[in-house]
Amino acid sequence: MLKLPGNLTDETFLARYWQKKPLFMPQAVDALRPAITRNELAWLATLDDVESRLVFTDRADDRTRYRVETGPFDVEFLQALPKRDWSLLVHDVEKHLPALRRLFKLVPFIPDWRIDDLMISFAAPGGSVGPHRDNYDVFLCQGIGVREWRTSTARVAKDHAASDDLALLHEFEGDESHVTRQGDVLYLPPGVAHWGTAKRACMTYSIGMRAPSYYSDPDLQLAEVRPGYLSPAALMRAGKQASQLGRSVTELKEWLQPLAPGDDEITALLDRPAVLHKMRLHSMARLAFDDHRLYLNGIGRPLDDRARASIAALCARRRLDGPLAAALGERGLRWLLAQGAFDIPEKE
Ligand code: SIN
Ligand code: CO
Repeated sequence: MLKLPGNLTDETFLARYWQKKPLFMPQAVDALRPAITRNELAWLATLDDVESRLVFTDRADDRTRYRVETGPFDVEFLQALPKRDWSLLVHDVEKHLPALRRLFKLVPFIPDWRIDDLMISFAAPGGSVGPHRDNYDVFLCQGIGVREWRTSTARVAKDHAASDDLALLHEFEGDESHVTRQGDVLYLPPGVAHWGTAKRACMTYSIGMRAPSYYSDPDLQLAEVRPGYLSPAALMRAGKQASQLGRSVTELKEWLQPLAPGDDEITALLDRPAVLHKMRLHSMARLAFDDHRLYLNGIGRPLDDRARASIAALCARRRLDGPLAAALGERGLRWLLAQGAFDIPEKE
């Protein structure tokens, strides 16, 4: 978990800062592990199913403009990038490199279904995506290098001339400025203007949140946070849309869908307990439940009390074993497998 500054606890962080105001947390992380190298990040940006962007800062005359190119990129192109003024951003890294999901353990006080993705950027000196606002909360964890963040809770107007593709704001001084080094973390609630510029080549790991537009939870309580669990309080917050919340928070991005096995493959797997009992949840799968229903990859289904205990255990451990497979039963497992819940090992 993040080391919160002063005598903040996870409860007081939620009460005072979550969805409310920014918090700079110096040395909140001992070592960002597992980490990724800039070459590994660049390699991800060459792949078809990975969402990546390069943002160039063009400084001409007295005006700065930001130019975006979207991936995948050719290796040669990435190797020939200039020395300064660009930033490479790769989204959903934990879905492509499942080991990196461990970084979500830095924020155990946030429900896992509120987390959208781990986005990692590498910026050359001077690199930035420009001043902007995001609609969602984010924990910006500094890896190697040095980045300066300016933030402003004041109103900063849009600057349509700054970029053709990015919804940027006018450049601003900021009411706060933080120079972040490895291990420092900046938390930003939705809507706060921010502008990060690499002082030295740097990597930033962003744990980004998501929620449907009708949902917000500034009153989030630690007691309701359990893996995969949509608490009665969460459903209350969704109000009239409560019946949609589970499907909505487990919906997958179109280009990030696990490949589900067919009927014959499922039957064969159920006959191979040695393989079945080692299966892990697929890194792209989104699984959640409330007191009455189960939600997987945007699909809902009723859940009785016995099955709920098994699904809660699966959400917490993210892997099967013999007792859990037995408790889920053949019908339950078949359904989960058919929706792409599990990472199916290659046949030996
Ligand atoms: C980054 O450049 O790594 C973060 C982008 C952002 O400000 O959202
Ligand atoms: Co941002």
